[in-house]
Amino acid sequence: MNDRATRTHDLSAFWMPFTANRQFKSAPRLLSKAKGMYYTSDDGRRILDGTAGMWCVNAGHCRDEIVAAVQAQAAEMDFAPTFQMGHPKAFEAATKIAKHTPGDLKHIFFVNSGSEAVDTALKIALAYHRARGEGQRTRFISRERAYHGVGFGGTSVGGIPANRKAYSGAMLPAVDHLPHTLNIKEAAFSKGQPAWGAHLADELERLVTLHDASTIAAVIVEPVAGSTGVLIPPQGYLQRLREICDKHGILLILDEVITGWGRLGAPFAAQFFNVTPDLLTMAKGTNNAAAPLGAVAASKRIHDAIINSAPAGVELFHGHTYSGHPIAMAATCATIDLYEREQLFERAAKMAPVFEEAIHALRGTRHVIDIRNIGLMGAVELASRDGAPGTRAYDTFVRCFQKGVLVRVAGDILAFSPPLIIEAEQIAELFKTVGEVLKEVD
Ligand SMILES: Cc1ncc(COP(=O)(O)O)c(C=O)c1O
Repeated sequence: MNDRATRTHDLSAFWMPFTANRQFKSAPRLLSKAKGMYYTSDDGRRILDGTAGMWCVNAGHCRDEIVAAVQAQAAEMDFAPTFQMGHPKAFEAATKIAKHTPGDLKHIFFVNSGSEAVDTALKIALAYHRARGEGQRTRFISRERAYHGVGFGGTSVGGIPANRKAYSGAMLPAVDHLPHTLNIKEAAFSKGQPAWGAHLADELERLVTLHDASTIAAVIVEPVAGSTGVLIPPQGYLQRLREICDKHGILLILDEVITGWGRLGAPFAAQFFNVTPDLLTMAKGTNNAAAPLGAVAASKRIHDAIINSAPAGVELFHGHTYSGHPIAMAATCATIDLYEREQLFERAAKMAPVFEEAIHALRGTRHVIDIRNIGLMGAVELASRDGAPGTRAYDTFVRCFQKGVLVRVAGDILAFSPPLIIEAEQIAELFKTVGEVLKEVD
């Protein structure tokens, strides 16, 4: 029990998201400050951030340039509408983003979260097909173990049973799922992309035959599935998905909410894997999580089809009050400037082998049944306790936090995604602590 937290804060009113509320409130973990690679807990301890917050603070915490940009924007203009109006920072931010997006995905639609980016991308896919006279293409194909946020669209294409269960009667009607690509028997302890598993992309051909290509609008996948424990695409898998989509006139949406902005050592996973989607979603690292933000990058073909086929007036009936919010835009401009000035994506690529060696050094540690990594993301999968799945990793996470290291948990998987500024000694500290804790937990 963290006495300080319960003494100084009333914890009852905040209904916490994706949290075991009763358990948390009986033993809270509160963070009160952050700088660079570290959080400070409310009892004054320094916590090494092995997760970039939640896969989002890629440039490290409270960077001076981003703080200054947010402060200046808040003082200069707090809000301006972007429906039939505009403000310069939104155009500047879109231009800066478009410098880094792959291929001709240079048209940027702003929203406020990854979930909204996903639902927006799905709607743009439908609008595109309709604009071309193929309005019957309404089906989406996604993947088991996918996480695409919590909107009704994202939940429907998501592949996590617990996230769908309570809402299962109200999912989008036309969605099918590919199998996920994790296979510990075939590919345990792979470094980078597993050699096994490209054939799983051929399942898409089976679903196309089943439903008929003329009913399918888009395939949506995370290039590396993050939230369900860093599932890395087998060699050739994403290329194969791209080929099958092209063959059948199906759009490919890459959900890069986690993999975007340098996580793999390239601006986006699209460039890292050399697979260009038709639509790309981003959020999190886009502005270093300094303000809520998401975005969709659309190809010229999609943008032009929707814009040019519409009668005079509004072309796409979609958007949010806070699409292009000035503070989120100011944070985006400052963040991208920082990424470029410090060459943080190149830095991530350089640190990836150090990260790989350190995480795989846990092989042979008690409970560990798989380790996988790519770029600056990785996972350590633990054997589950009999009859109590998830509890071993959760206990590991709590003990790591007590010892000053923040890791993430998905089931019995520990996931790692440090800020791209991490130093070799901090990588060593992160995995040394995890190794010690794994020896302690039963
Ligand atoms: C791939 C992916 N898509 C969408 C989302 C949803 O983003 P948000 O939590 O900002 O709504 C996430 C969040 O982790 C994600 O990892």
